[in-house]
Amino acid sequence: MLNRRGFLQLSAAATASLLLANCKGDTKFSSALLIPPLAEGKLINGVKHFDLSIQESSHSFFEGIQTDTYAVNGSYLGPTIRIADQDEVSLNFTNNLNGHTTMHGHGMHVPAVMDGGLHQIISPGNTWSARYKVNQRACTNWYHPHLKNFTAEQTYKGIAGLIIVDDEDSLSLDIPKTYGVDDIPLVLQDKRFDEFKQIDYSPTRTEIIRGYLSETTLVNGVIEPFVDVEAKEIRLRILNGSNSSLYKIGFEDSRNFKQIAVDNSFLNAPVTLNQITLSPSERAEIVIDLSNEKGNSLVLKDFARSLDFMQINVNKDPTSQTNTPDVLTDLPFYNPDEAVYTRVFKFEPGLKINGKHMRMNRIDQVIPINQLEIWEVYNSTGMAHNFHLHATHFTILDRELKGNVTNVAENEKGYKDTVFIESKERVRLLVKMTDYTDEYLPYMFHCHYLEHEDAGMMGQFTVV
Ligand code: C2O
Ligand code: CU
Ligand code: CU
Repeated sequence: MLNRRGFLQLSAAATASLLLANCKGDTKFSSALLIPPLAEGKLINGVKHFDLSIQESSHSFFEGIQTDTYAVNGSYLGPTIRIADQDEVSLNFTNNLNGHTTMHGHGMHVPAVMDGGLHQIISPGNTWSARYKVNQRACTNWYHPHLKNFTAEQTYKGIAGLIIVDDEDSLSLDIPKTYGVDDIPLVLQDKRFDEFKQIDYSPTRTEIIRGYLSETTLVNGVIEPFVDVEAKEIRLRILNGSNSSLYKIGFEDSRNFKQIAVDNSFLNAPVTLNQITLSPSERAEIVIDLSNEKGNSLVLKDFARSLDFMQINVNKDPTSQTNTPDVLTDLPFYNPDEAVYTRVFKFEPGLKINGKHMRMNRIDQVIPINQLEIWEVYNSTGMAHNFHLHATHFTILDRELKGNVTNVAENEKGYKDTVFIESKERVRLLVKMTDYTDEYLPYMFHCHYLEHEDAGMMGQFTVV
């Protein structure tokens, strides 16, 4: 341990925090951020094919050390799949692992058979294709395994990647949109490593409930990286890709930034904030104006646990300019007065929803297509959860915490697939299933704290 750079630099202060920093291995902000490559699609007969290999691999999180991982194509995480509304696509996932998996397009509005949920199992050596016509607004989605009881472990070992959906708005707005240059994807995670620097996924019963957390943060698979950017507007597409960590994301100097998008859509107008709460699987796109900041460095942090994610060095002259407009889109919203049905979901101790754990052969809800509904999700437990819904995108109607009703925050006024729910909070959602029915094959709703999901905090619904 004495030869670690971190130790030598800080050796005057032999404190607990020093030991913690020391365990992380590399000196802070000394490794360059990796940008997930864009998956190369091949156009065959009008269909964009993406060939994706789910595989065992190894990745260098620590200098000079190879860590065993799972990944898609590369060594950790997977390539970014970039598709556009109305594209015909085929995402061909080949399972090169030793065991089963599935691959879910989180946030994709697709038929149940193409959802990649619990029932679309890919056995070793087989290829499963999610084939559909893209039918949704521009957003940042992601793919990850969804195998019953093993979603948490497989995701933790590294299987996940982004799906960027483009539409007319995203392509025409004067916002940063050069991938990896001024439009930077950030998959935020934290991870435990054992003494051999191998990924340690071994939650105890308490950690399954309370969260499997670590103070070692990763951005796109790099521990506390830096990124060099131009002095201009920069867009960050942020995914909370952790299993069970709640992140409160902002910059060390508490500067303001603009949030422009939520899970599944742009916001109608940018919302100025200095912190965003993202529970596992939620996304936010933000724009920071660094036009006059050449020479400065910013630190992106999690204020929930006071952890650093990365350093952004503004050290390049701009090669282009953008001027993010005050109007981004014009979302059509459902009228809550037209809702004809209310469904209640109660989160209960023991990681249950409405008194039950997930069962593969039980359909919990049958939902008529094109029916506007209010979904009332009440978290009766003593801890926070979130609620994720496949198949469609919802808006938040209101929140109620211990009798106090609050309207939706400005930066939640967009289409979402995951909503954070505090202990004792009740969230009402406006939900409508559209386009796809299947009498037999279900979609899932669940808590996206992956340990909770695997422990059964999930249910199934069909759209008919
Ligand atoms: Cu991101 Cu059912 O999952
Ligand atoms: Cu999903
Ligand atoms: Cu939960």
